[in-house]
Amino acid sequence: MTTRVTRLYRFSASHRLHSARFSEDENTRLYGKCNNPFGHGHNYVLEVTAEGPVDRGTGLILRLAELDRLVRDRVLNLFEDRNINLDVPQFRDLVPTTENIAKVISDLLREYWESYVSGASRLVRVHVQETDRNGFEIWVRSEAAKIDTQSEREKVVV
Ligand code: NI
Repeated sequence: MTTRVTRLYRFSASHRLHSARFSEDENTRLYGKCNNPFGHGHNYVLEVTAEGPVDRGTGLILRLAELDRLVRDRVLNLFEDRNINLDVPQFRDLVPTTENIAKVISDLLREYWESYVSGASRLVRVHVQETDRNGFEIWVRSEAAKIDTQSEREKVVV
């Protein structure tokens, strides 16, 4: 039986939505107030969901302290009180929309998951709430599903 756990984190950061691919006018039309030159801040709420079997010995899916350390070291340290456009290297050429922030966070958590989190749990969902009204989430496909997709693609190529 699979059980899921969701842990919530908060961080504050500022950003400016602006793409070098578009003209000033197009940027203004596309991003509105979020294109203001000096940026603006948000109190982001990050939810991280993992799933896995409940360990017989501990009764837990995962050790929350391990997850907390992963999120603190690899995500919060990178974003907290930062200007995302200037301070977070992943956004050098990437517009810091919350869609992209969720993607970067999910990539970081996947990359470092096994070096921080013991046991059989895996990351399944990252949700970033930007404002009361805007939230974005990424469902992380299982490794098995990823392998299936790859082999399907290889079949098509062959
Ligand atoms: Ni914004």
